[in-house]
Amino acid sequence: MTTDLKPHADRVSQTSLKTLADARASSAPLRAAGWSIDLSRHYLDAEAEAGLLQFGRVSDLQSAADSLFAGDIVNPSERRPALHWALRAQSELSGEAETVRQSVLPALSFARDVVSGSVTSSTGLPFNAVLHIGIGGSDFGPRLIVDAFEDKASGNIDLRFCANVDPFDLDRAMHGLDPTRTLVIGVSKSFGTEETLYNLTRARTWLEESVGDQSQQHLALVTANPDRAKAWLNGREAHVFDMPLSVGGRFSLWSAASLACMIYLGADTFEGILKGAAEMDAHVRSAPLEENAAMRLALLDYWNATIRNEKMRVLLAYANRLRMLPTYLQQLEMESNGKTVGPTGTMVSGATAPALWGGEGSVGQHSYHQWLHQGSQNVPCEFILAPDRSRDPEGINALTAHALAQAEVLANGRSFDEVKQEEPDLSDEVARQKVHAGGRASTFLVHNTFGPAAFGALVALYEHRTYLAGHLWQLNPFDQWGVERGKTMASRLKPAVEGTAAADDAVTSALIAMIAGD
Ligand code: F6P
Repeated sequence: MTTDLKPHADRVSQTSLKTLADARASSAPLRAAGWSIDLSRHYLDAEAEAGLLQFGRVSDLQSAADSLFAGDIVNPSERRPALHWALRAQSELSGEAETVRQSVLPALSFARDVVSGSVTSSTGLPFNAVLHIGIGGSDFGPRLIVDAFEDKASGNIDLRFCANVDPFDLDRAMHGLDPTRTLVIGVSKSFGTEETLYNLTRARTWLEESVGDQSQQHLALVTANPDRAKAWLNGREAHVFDMPLSVGGRFSLWSAASLACMIYLGADTFEGILKGAAEMDAHVRSAPLEENAAMRLALLDYWNATIRNEKMRVLLAYANRLRMLPTYLQQLEMESNGKTVGPTGTMVSGATAPALWGGEGSVGQHSYHQWLHQGSQNVPCEFILAPDRSRDPEGINALTAHALAQAEVLANGRSFDEVKQEEPDLSDEVARQKVHAGGRASTFLVHNTFGPAAFGALVALYEHRTYLAGHLWQLNPFDQWGVERGKTMASRLKPAVEGTAAADDAVTSALIAMIAGD
């Protein structure tokens, strides 16, 4: 099928993006759970789009979506279903999915108890701080949620995050906290991640130096491996919450992994996020391919990465609340589909997931947008505009105008003749430097009443898009073999770093000597 799409790509590459986009501008945007999505500015014409949709049918995207929601084994590496969607289901499910749905309830209840003061610190006083310790999917999601909605926090609890094994991270996170009033939440699906165990052990010592064996009242652990957690507790007690094995780490922000968010923002806000995600799930389950936002975006990812060989996608979040979204989506998309070998052990054909980077708009316009406009590489962008209409209209209108302007200039460019016509006094040398090649494709997503539900719907959309794109690339989006080697190598090199052994690799040995100041 890929061979059937290449001729379309060759044809449309002969046409300016503006011409292609103008022809598609009148087509209705996709609508899903309050989000509107415009795909006009892509290298597609009617024939190419029809071919891409047909590829989606032949690739049976519908069956892939059905399998996910049926709880089929969509993660062959671990022979498990992927049940992150069950965590946000708004009605009772059955079987393992129902167990997963219920797994978040104890965390919500505990969060309410901490907030109400019915669960207190060992002093009998309410907790006034939460320290979240986790990394990767046990960190990015909770951080993103808190950063997006910190204005909804009660203000009675200080929330800190720590992820890195660099000791300064925990030192910085604990600075100024009172251990007698702090709840330490350790999140680790495997309960085997070096960075998290290192930080959690340091934090436990910090607690014990202050409250002795009452530290157990100050410890909450969230994991899919209670046996390892029990061993780490070494006879101590703690509040322990379940993270289901059938929920991938990078898909787990809906679970008890977000306990800190439930406490800091309030369980109601968190439940609002779940409701929004459930609305997007309903769309993805039921919308036909042509109208299905997740399927269309997955097909576009395949078209840009595999057919047009785009090596990047730049995500521009024109909403301060979503400034961490690019970082979050890097793990979701690149750890899910940054692969070239499928679950059958065969090399897949063609390029797979692109590098995803980006940042907050309009801030990025004062940084990398020069590169986007006039750099040597033409990369597709993705605008997410979520204007908060309850805020100052002048700022909202400016944010909106900037997003629209950037998308238009990136796509349409500015020719030498146009520069000279608008600025006739310019020398040719300067005029040539003001030319914009244009031709930069972009997707534009907008939600006009952004809040917890819109946030949940957006993240759910990207989860489904990632899964469906992985299906098109014939990958398993739910494993991450590629991260294991580095961890193994790091543990092998630690003795060499500590000077008790030699490194095998010549350059590594030289680097160790350089680091040691030899
Ligand atoms: O990066 C590898 C990884 O396993 C991620 O997939 C995961 O989110 C992160 O490390 C943390 O894993 P855990 O939650 O098991 O500590």
